[in-house]
Amino acid sequence: MSAQSQIRRKTVTDIAKAKGGAPLVCLTAYDAQVAQLLDPYCDILLVGDSLGMVVHGLPSTVGVTMDMMILHGQAVMRGSSQAFVVVDMPFGSYETNSDQAFLNAARLMQETGCQAVKIESGTYAAKQIAHMVERGIPVMGHVGLRPQAINVDGGFRAKGRTESEWARAIAEAVAADQAGAFAIVVEGVAPDLADEITASVSCPTIGIGASAGCDGQILVTNDLLGMTDWVPKFVKKNADLKSVISTAAKTYSEEVKSRSFPGADQTYRLRKAAKS
Ligand code: KIV
Repeated sequence: MSAQSQIRRKTVTDIAKAKGGAPLVCLTAYDAQVAQLLDPYCDILLVGDSLGMVVHGLPSTVGVTMDMMILHGQAVMRGSSQAFVVVDMPFGSYETNSDQAFLNAARLMQETGCQAVKIESGTYAAKQIAHMVERGIPVMGHVGLRPQAINVDGGFRAKGRTESEWARAIAEAVAADQAGAFAIVVEGVAPDLADEITASVSCPTIGIGASAGCDGQILVTNDLLGMTDWVPKFVKKNADLKSVISTAAKTYSEEVKSRSFPGADQTYRLRKAAKS
């Protein structure tokens, strides 16, 4: 067996053990090449339904389908070897009842080989989480700002700014934790609220626009890489790939138009005839 194939993927136990320890490093991934680059540095790769907006140009995550999640989940599994891979359950695939949630989660796991699923978990979803976990599916919760709910929220809005929203975010997290979620994404809440959630649950919290006190952090990779002009306040761009890609495309365009591409190095030459 090669050294490469002996690398073991992280497991749900490794993730759960991180509560209160070194922060979990998590990023989204949507394709095999980027997954391969991120894999050595990440505890968790999330095939987020943000792929609807980031990869497919949709206005929100609401239009994402099971088939889209499966296609991208398969690619990320092929590209990664050590990170724990979680695939998002898309809007409409788990809310109706526990059987619907289990059957769709089982399909995601069987067809992608991923190790867990994530649902945006209002308190109502505790039943679905418990049902899936009891039947062998590790579930990650997602509380605070829930992008699949933008149509009731009236847009992407930070949560916990009123007392009732504050209490609701804590109730959602505690419900997911007690139902057996192995980790919970906490999105778009003030640091004090994120810290209270982290202290109130037994599983690790993964913050995005939340608090450095969470048990881990996650970002949408394309935001981290600077692929767009606008990024949310909570993103720190660690690269400017938008400029890199634009410059490369502009240079290519100029070289094609001037016929300086392809040059001698990029073209094939006739082989010299072998002497008889
Ligand atoms: O879909 C996604 O990318 C997510 C992360 C932002 C947590 O849910």
